[in-house]
Amino acid sequence: MGLILGIETSCDECSASVLMHERGVYSPLSVSTFSQIELHQPYGGVVPEVASRNHLEQIDPVIWDALGRAKVEVEDLDAIAVTNRPGLIGALLVGVTAAKALAYVKRKPLVPVHHLEGHLMSAFLKSPKQGTPEVLFPAVFLLVSGGHTNLYSVESAPESWPATLLRDALAGSSMDDAAGEAFDKSAKILGFPYPGGKWIDEEARKGGNPSAFDLPRGLKQKDSLAFSFSGLKTAVALLAQRLGKEGVLESALPDVCASIQEAIIDPMVRKSLLLQKMKGAKSIVVVGGVAANSRLRERFLKESPVPVIYPDLQYCTDNAAMIAAAGAVRFAQGYGLDSSAFLKLNAFAIAEH
Ligand code: KG4
Ligand code: ZN
Repeated sequence: MGLILGIETSCDECSASVLMHERGVYSPLSVSTFSQIELHQPYGGVVPEVASRNHLEQIDPVIWDALGRAKVEVEDLDAIAVTNRPGLIGALLVGVTAAKALAYVKRKPLVPVHHLEGHLMSAFLKSPKQGTPEVLFPAVFLLVSGGHTNLYSVESAPESWPATLLRDALAGSSMDDAAGEAFDKSAKILGFPYPGGKWIDEEARKGGNPSAFDLPRGLKQKDSLAFSFSGLKTAVALLAQRLGKEGVLESALPDVCASIQEAIIDPMVRKSLLLQKMKGAKSIVVVGGVAANSRLRERFLKESPVPVIYPDLQYCTDNAAMIAAAGAVRFAQGYGLDSSAFLKLNAFAIAEH
C-alpha cells in the first residue's frame, strides 16, 4: 500500500490530490482543484504570467485542502509526485518548487511526473460513479486535450510500463493544433467564451447537421495516423464571414457548430479505429478534456467493435489525482528521488514526448 500526494500546475488548473495505491488499484482520497478559467476568459485564452502568479497564491491552500479532506498528515505520505513537464514553464516551476519544499522539510521522496503519463493514468482511477474502469490490453489510448492530440498503442498495464512508454507507444499525433485548440479557436471566431469546446458541442446538439458545411479534414490518407487541424480555423473564419454578410449566421449556428465538430471528431474516430484494427487492440481509452464531447462518444458507440472507456469527467480535465497515480506507478518502480537528487530537479516546458 502507498499514500501519494500529487501536485499539478502545468497550465491553468492548480490541483493537489491524495491517492491510495494498493495492488494496481488507484483510489483518490481527495482532489482539490482551483480552476483559473474565469481569470483567463477576458483574454480568450491562457495568459502564462497570469497563470503562474495565480498558482503562487493557490498552491498552499490547495495542498492543505487536499490533505485535510483526505484526513492525511504529510508525515503519513510515502511520496510526493509533481508534474515537471511539459507545460507553461512559469506555472510548472510553482508546483515543482512547492513539492521540493514540502518533500525536503518532511523528508519524503519526490517523484517527477510527465503530464501526459498522468493523462494516460486517469483511465485507471477509481471513482465513486463508475468504480475502476476495466482497460483490456493491448489498448489504444486517444489523448485529446487543449494541448495534445496523441494516439498511443499500449501493450500492458501501468505497473509494467517502461520509462520510455510515451515514446515507445506513440503511434500518431497532431502536426499543428491540438483537437481542443481547434475547438477553442473555432469557438472564438464564432464569439463563444473560452474554452469553447463545450459551447460548440452544446450548439451542435440543437439539431445541427454535421454535413451541412464541407470543412477541411487534414491528412485524409487512409493509412495515416497523424492529425492536422490548422486549415480548419481559416475555413471557419471565411464561412462565418460569408454567413454574417448574408445575415444568416445566427440561424445557421447549430449547423456550423455540428460541421466544425464533425471535422475535428471524424479523423480522431477513424484513426483510433484504424490503430485498433492494426494492433488487434481489445479496448479504446479516451482521455483529456475533449473526451467530454458528445458526438465523439456517439460515433465510438456506433462504430467501435471493442469497448470504449472514458474516465470519470472530473479526471479527464487536468487534475492532480492522475499525477498522483502516475507518481505511484513510478515510485513503485523505484523512480522516487531523495533530497540529494530532487533539490536539482528542474521543470521543462517542452518534453521530447
Ligand atoms: O485536458 P484539458 O482540461 O486541458 C488540457 O490539458 O489542455 O482539456 C481542455 C480542452 C479545451 O480545449 C476544451 O474546449 C475541451 O477540452 N473540451 C471540449 C468539451 N469539453 C471540454 N471539447 C469538445 N467538446 C466538449 N464537450
Ligand atoms: Zn492536460
